[in-house]
This record gives sequence, C-alpha cells and structure tokens, in this order.
Amino acid sequence: MKFSRLIFTFLLASTGLADRSDRQALTYAALPEGIYTPSVNASITTLLDFIKSRSDLSILANLITECGGFSQAFHTIPTWSFTFFAPSNAAFNNTGAYFSTYAATFKGKWWLGNLFQHHYIPNTQLKSSAFNSSYTRIQTGSFLYVGTQALNGQLILNNVSAVTSADLPVTSGLVHIIDHILDPSAQVFEPDVTKTSQSFIPGSCSNPLLPYC
Ligand SMILES: *[C@@H]1O[C@H](CO)[C@@H](O)[C@H](O)[C@H]1NC(C)=O
Ligand SMILES: *[C@@H]1O[C@H](CO)[C@@H](O)[C@H](O)[C@H]1NC(C)=O
Ligand SMILES: *[C@@H]1O[C@H](CO)[C@@H](O)[C@H](O)[C@H]1NC(C)=O
Ligand SMILES: *[C@@H]1O[C@H](CO)[C@@H](O)[C@H](O)[C@H]1NC(C)=O
Repeated sequence: MKFSRLIFTFLLASTGLADRSDRQALTYAALPEGIYTPSVNASITTLLDFIKSRSDLSILANLITECGGFSQAFHTIPTWSFTFFAPSNAAFNNTGAYFSTYAATFKGKWWLGNLFQHHYIPNTQLKSSAFNSSYTRIQTGSFLYVGTQALNGQLILNNVSAVTSADLPVTSGLVHIIDHILDPSAQVFEPDVTKTSQSFIPGSCSNPLLPYC
C-alpha cells in the first residue's frame, strides 16, 4: 500500500518534471485551454482591432500573435489612457537581416515582447501637439525612455523614427504610425533632457522619492 503510493508520487513527480523540461528556455508559456476572455462589444475599438484593420500594420498584427498574452492584452477594454506607437510594415522593412534571423529564435520572440512594451505608453494620451522643436524624452511601458522632437511639424522619435500618421483615436487611446522600430536594447546614454509631461507609470522610478527607487 505504502509502496504503491510511493510509486504513484514518483510518477506524478516525474510527469511534472517532463512538463517543465518540455518548454524551451525563454519561450512564452502556452495559454491554458478555455481561458476566460471578457467580451468586447461593437462600440469599442481596441488596440488589436485597430492594428488588424490596417493593411500597413499587417506585419505587426502577425508578430503580436507570436508573443504570449499580447493579443489578449491589446484586446481588452482599457479603463486607463494610453498611447501606442505602431511600427508599420515599412518600419519592419527598415530593419536588417539581423532582425529576421534573431526574431525567429525563441529568445527573439521574448525580445519582441519587450519591444512591443517599449512602444506602449500607459496612462497618458500623448498628442503630437504636446511636442515642439525642443528635444525631450518620454517614458514607455518598458520603463525606458524614448527621445522626442517635432521637426517641420513631424514628430521624430530617437532621432530616426518618424511619425507618418499621427493622433489616430481608439477607445481610451491614441495611435501614431512610425516608420522605424524602437528597440529597448539599443539605448544610448545621453545627458538628461527635459521630460515631456506624462502620468506616472506604476513600477517605474520616474518618482525617485518612492521607497523602492
Ligand atoms: C458597450 O460598452 C459600452 C461601454 O462599456 C456601454 O456603454 C454600452 O452600453 C455597451 N453596448 C452594448 C450593446 O452592450
Ligand atoms: C521595403 O524595402 C524595399 C527595398 O528597400 C522597397 O523596395 C520596398 O518598397 C519596401 N516596402 C515597404 C512596404 O516599405
Ligand atoms: C517647447 O515647449 C516647452 C514647454 O511648453 C517650452 O518650455 C519650450 O521653450 C518650447 N520650445 C520651443 C523651441 O519653443
Ligand atoms: C538626438 O538629437 C538631439 C537634438 O538634436 C541631440 O541633442 C542628441 O544628441 C541626438 N542623439 C543622438 C543619439 O544622436
């Protein structure tokens, strides 16, 4: 009796181990079957609805499905404001061979998830009119900063990525289409520049008086 229970426990333990080692390091966990997703009614345009509705964002729409949880997160009804800089097909075209070879790997998918977060600004709708020719910076969902400057009426990010179509509304948010991706792993250390006013991002250290900063 005791022995069979021991065997049973051992079997359970070994199947548990097999489950864990089935997953490649740095891959997204598969979503459990039958996971609950709240319904979104027709009066709402989620970020995902917007991305899927435009043919110039088809590469982005496809990549989002490869990073676990992003399709669901971008298809929720937001109770907060946000800004999203959507990289167009031209933006993905403006990457080198390194992008496609790296993005195809397991670690590359994980990096893509960080990259999407770096294009998302929680809690603030940043209109293009909030910027002028002074070089400033804004904080993104990755907690890192992006340089911003309006030149000849066009908003330029990190001195290279131009907003080609600005201030497109979705429910609770604003989308700007950009022509180069913003890579969180390609940060340049520059002298501190003024921040453009935006709402606090919880978890970030944009308020150094917080006890965890
Ligand atoms: C859709 O959602 C909005 C916002 O939550 C609500 O005001 C509206 O009544 C809903 N419409 C339908 C048909 O359920
Ligand atoms: C992608 O780049 C190629 C070569 O530079 C160019 O011919 C093509 O028009 C570009 N496509 C888009 C969608 O920008
Ligand atoms: C841009 O706007 C900021 C804040 O309103 C202001 O301090 C700055 O002088 C402006 N820069 C230019 C070049 O007008
Ligand atoms: C970006 O442009 C600003 C304003 O012209 C300049 O001060 C800054 O050094 C530039 N940064 C890089 C990395 O080129």
